[in-house]
Amino acid sequence: MRNMDVRRVREKIENVTALPTIPKVLNKLLAVIENPRVSLNEISNFIAGDPALTTKVLRMVNSPVYGFPGRISSVNQAVILLGLTVVKGLLLGVSVFDLMQKTMTGLWEHSIGCAIFSRIIAIKKGHRDPDELSVDGLLHDIGKVFLVLQFPDEYQQALAESRRDSLTIYSSEKNRFNTTHSSVGSWMARKWRFPASLIDVIEYHHKPQLTKNTPLESSIVHLADILVRSRGYGFPGDDFVMPVEQAAWDVLGFDEADLAEIFKEAEESLGMTEDLAL
Ligand SMILES: [Fe+2]
Ligand SMILES: [Fe+2]
Repeated sequence: MRNMDVRRVREKIENVTALPTIPKVLNKLLAVIENPRVSLNEISNFIAGDPALTTKVLRMVNSPVYGFPGRISSVNQAVILLGLTVVKGLLLGVSVFDLMQKTMTGLWEHSIGCAIFSRIIAIKKGHRDPDELSVDGLLHDIGKVFLVLQFPDEYQQALAESRRDSLTIYSSEKNRFNTTHSSVGSWMARKWRFPASLIDVIEYHHKPQLTKNTPLESSIVHLADILVRSRGYGFPGDDFVMPVEQAAWDVLGFDEADLAEIFKEAEESLGMTEDLAL
C-alpha cells in the first residue's frame, strides 16, 4: 500500500483554499477567520451580507446545539452572545461540511450530534464554557473534510478499505496518508488561529490519554464522539463504536446512571435538529 510523505500531505492540505472547487464565499470567509484582528462587527457584517449564510447561522444558534433555543433573531445578537471564537467555529462548521455531502453523507449529522453530546457532558461536568465544547464537538472531525477535498480518490479508497477490511476510518487514513484527520484538522485549526484548546481537542479526540493541556475537554469530545456513534446518528466514515479510553473515564468519573441521563437529554435535543440539514 502506498504510504504518503506527511510533509507533502500537510503542504497540500494547507493549500486547500487554492482549490477551484471551493466556493468564493467560503474563501472570503476563511480569509476573515484567518485575520487575527477581525472584530465582532466585521464578522457580523460578513454574515449579514450573505442571506444563505445568515439563515444557516440563525438556525444553528436557535438549535439545541447552543444554549438559547428559539430566542435569537439577528446575527448581531448571535455574535455578541456567542463571542468571537464560537462564531468563528460555527461559521466554519456551517460552511465547510456541505462541500462533502456526496463523499461522506452523514458527517454533518455526526458532527452536530457530537456537538450536542459535548455540550451536555460539559454542563454535567460544570465546565465554565459549554458553548466552546459545542464548537469542539462540531469541528472535531473537520480534518476529514480537508482530506476529502485535497485527496478525493485516495479518501474514497480509504472509505472502501474500511468497509472491506472492517477497519476504522482512522486506521485506513493512517495506512494511506501516514497521518489522520485528527492531525490534519489541528494543522488547519492552527493556521486559522483557533484557540489552543480547540487545536488540542481536535488533535487528541481519539487519544485523550496523550494530551497534556486539555484532559477534560479532550475526554468530553472523545466520549461524545463514541456516544453519538452508539446512538447511530450520522455517519463518521465507519460503523465502529470504539471503546472509551480508560483515561477519559478517569477524568469524567461517570457511572451508568450518568450515561443514561446524558442519553435522555441528548435524545430530546437530537429530535429538534432536523432543520439543521445542510
Ligand atoms: Fe475523529
Ligand atoms: Fe467523530
